[in-house]
Formats: sequence, structure tokens, C-alpha cells
Amino acid sequence: MRIYMDYILEVRNLNVYYKSIGRSILSKPAKKQVLFDVSFDVRPGEILGIVGESGCGKSSLSKAILGMNKMYEGQIIHHSGKPQMIFQDPFSSLNPAWRIGRILEEPLILSGIRDKEERRKRVEDMLNKVGLDESYADRKPVALSGGQRQRVSIAAALIARPQLVIADEPLSALDVTIQSQIMDLMLELKRELGLTYLFVSHDIDVVYQMCDRIMVMKEGRIIELGDTLEMFANPKNEYTRSLIEG
Ligand SMILES: Nc1ncnc2c1ncn2[C@@H]1O[C@H](COP(=O)(O)OP(=O)(O)OP(=O)(O)O)[C@@H](O)[C@H]1O
Ligand SMILES: [Mg+2]
Repeated sequence: MRIYMDYILEVRNLNVYYKSIGRSILSKPAKKQVLFDVSFDVRPGEILGIVGESGCGKSSLSKAILGMNKMYEGQIIHHSGKPQMIFQDPFSSLNPAWRIGRILEEPLILSGIRDKEERRKRVEDMLNKVGLDESYADRKPVALSGGQRQRVSIAAALIARPQLVIADEPLSALDVTIQSQIMDLMLELKRELGLTYLFVSHDIDVVYQMCDRIMVMKEGRIIELGDTLEMFANPKNEYTRSLIEG
């Protein structure tokens, strides 16, 4: 029997905090709240865009969902196993000391695949899926271009077969021509592997092209969430309108 899952992720009344450097009057370590009562769902197979100005909390939300920020209240309910992350900067996110083969093998080792031959096959298969041939397994990140490195980052995120992938500005460190190649690759992999994306971007054109729904954030709150075409045709919020109009 196939169990139909309405949502792949549910976020309910999420407040996220960071320790702040200052101290409160009572001399307890003070905390700074960066997300306020954030609630939304992610549906299987969609691309949900997250937009909003610098500092509005997009990365803090991504990190909380990934379990990288433990100071929170509210619920983060995963219905699809562990999400994986594609980072913004393919120059700092890949271990420079490791060959690409080793970088891609690591998530498989961590997920308990003991058979070395199986891991080798999965690495080759994943390299091909992101448009790189097997010879890349023997290279180090320094020998790769920015676009090739982002292909490797995508391979590293997908090799353990997650359902939900969180991409935090995955295009913004790349040249414009490379951006559209990586965007096409992400869309192709989504279709092929049945992925769901949470897609953080400040580029409203990219979001319009890629996302099924858009969540607009401002100062740690969701101020509008809806279908992309509907939101562009009829933004309910002044701030959303200003983002769209650029
Ligand atoms: N590690 C941290 N410690 C303390 N405050 C932080 C930390 N990381 C982020 N913040 C603060 O949290 C708020 C939200 O930051 P966040 O990085 O989530 O924004 P963002 O929307 O991802 O911005 P950008 O578009 O620049 O990436 C900001 O006020 C930021 O200064
Ligand atoms: Mg950010």
C-alpha cells in the first residue's frame, strides 16, 4: 500500500535564537531572536523558494531545518528522512585535501555502505548524473572550475539519496552563464530523482523561473507565501511587490 504523504516537511511556530555577545540585566547570557513564529509546509516534489533581503533569516531557517541550529522553539517535523544541503560557495564547501572520489564516498560511508565496490559504482554513477566523467574522481577541488565544483557539491548532496534538498543561494557564487547550466542541472536531477527543493535566493528572476511557490521573509517573519504565478500577478504585500518590481 502506498501511503500518501501530504507534506515532506512541516515547520510550526518556529522561533530561532542565537547567543548574543552582550549580557542581559540579570547577567544570564542574552539571546537574540532571528526567526519569529515561522510556520509553513513543504509539499513533495515542489520547489519552494525563500526570498527576502540580506539578514531576514533565510540561512538561519535552512540551518534550523538541517539541525545545525539547536536554539529554537516550535516544531520541525520531517516526513522524509534527513535533508541534504547544497551550499552557496563551492570553493569553501569542498575539502581541498580530498580527491573528488573521496568527497563523494564520505556520505556513503556515513550512511553505512560498507561495500567498497558498491561505493565506487555509486560515485561514478553520481558523477555522470551531474555531467562529469569518472576521471573527475581522481582530481582535487583545486583543479576544477567554479561550475564543476558546484556540480560536485550537488553530487555530494544527492549521493545518499535524500528526498528534500535545501539549496542556499546555490547559484550566486557562479558566473551568469554557469548559473543557467547549474539551474538546468538542478531541474533535471529533480525530475530524474523525484526531489523536493527548498531554494533560497535573492534573485527574483531565478526564483520566478524555478519555483512552484514562494515564501517572502522580512525581519525574521513570513510575510507572504503563495503560488509563484499568482504572487507575481497579484502580490498581496507591498514588500512583495517591491521585490518583484525590483
Ligand atoms: N551565528 C550567528 N550568530 C549570531 N547572529 C547570527 C548568526 N548567524 C546569523 N545571525 C543573525 O541572524 C539574522 C539572520 O541572518 P541570516 O544569515 O539567517 O540571514 P539571510 O537571510 O540568510 O541573509 P543573507 O541573504 O545575507 O544570506 C541576522 O541578523 C544575522 O546577523
Ligand atoms: Mg544567507
